[in-house]
Amino acid sequence: MKNTKKKMIVKKLQRRDYLSVDDFSTNEIKSILRLTADMKAHSRRYRKSLDGKMMALIFEKPSLRTRTTFTVGIKQLGGDSLLLTPADINLGKRESVFDVAKNLERMVDGIMIRTFGHDICVSLAEHAGIPVINGLTDLEHPCQAMADIFTVIEHHKNLKNLKLSYIGDGNNVAHSLMLIAAKLGTTMFVGTPESHKPDQKILDRAREVAAETGATITWTADPTEAARDADMIYTDTWTSMGQEAELEARRQIFAPYQVNRELFSHAKPDALFMHCLPAHRGEEVTDEIIDSPNSVVFQEAENRLHAQKAIMFELLRD
Ligand code: CP
Ligand code: NVA
Repeated sequence: MKNTKKKMIVKKLQRRDYLSVDDFSTNEIKSILRLTADMKAHSRRYRKSLDGKMMALIFEKPSLRTRTTFTVGIKQLGGDSLLLTPADINLGKRESVFDVAKNLERMVDGIMIRTFGHDICVSLAEHAGIPVINGLTDLEHPCQAMADIFTVIEHHKNLKNLKLSYIGDGNNVAHSLMLIAAKLGTTMFVGTPESHKPDQKILDRAREVAAETGATITWTADPTEAARDADMIYTDTWTSMGQEAELEARRQIFAPYQVNRELFSHAKPDALFMHCLPAHRGEEVTDEIIDSPNSVVFQEAENRLHAQKAIMFELLRD
């Protein structure tokens, strides 16, 4: 488990990190998506493919889906995992990120980290000579985006011929979705209040990628414009983990962006409703939309398992 990351041939995914959607090229994302489909269809074929590999799962924020799908996913590939919470390692306080990286690279084969600052995730990856996977930071949620775009593909074969609309807070989930839409040539609308637009650097980068792939990434403050003729409407919580003190203010700011029957009526009749979960019913989405036949939220949750198995397989295999 030496630090071989920098010596690897660029085209190979082995020993690479997945901290941002932008870490993978369009072709690499497409190959992960093909593998995801195969793993979902033929799970048993891969049951020894990461035999004996150990993943450390660092969680500095709560989780249902990410924790469960990484734990179950590595096990289904023949490996195992151990959970490290703040009560165990207190990252950056009990011990520096550098020291944690230098310890773990000698003990495990890969690390998944869910934390606050994206710089913590980047620093861990820089110092650990083993693959690091971002399981959510304040800036990005790249595993979610992979599972979500796979879910879209399960419903629409042609990603280039649809309108994907994200409505709500310009947050980590929106950022990763914008980047993956840009990489795959999709038309995406992002409807957020002016005060909670996506990060300008991510918006610029997504548009730069879009110029090469034929995607378009449009920001608007008008939720109806975002929803109009959409093939899928995606939303996420208005108050992400770590922003709890802003809860009341955010409820006021985002009220016009609630995905409800009226807003959803502007989309195509067979539009899908998407959400990374956990949902705050009655806030960003109403029960009648999340519980409607158009909703694919639990399919997205299940697809976290398949997509992350594909990601772990590619990064950790010998
Ligand atoms: N969507 C998602 O990442 O869920 P958890 O926060 O429960 O892991
Ligand atoms: N934007 C949310 C996503 C949760 C999966 C958060 O960061 O809390």
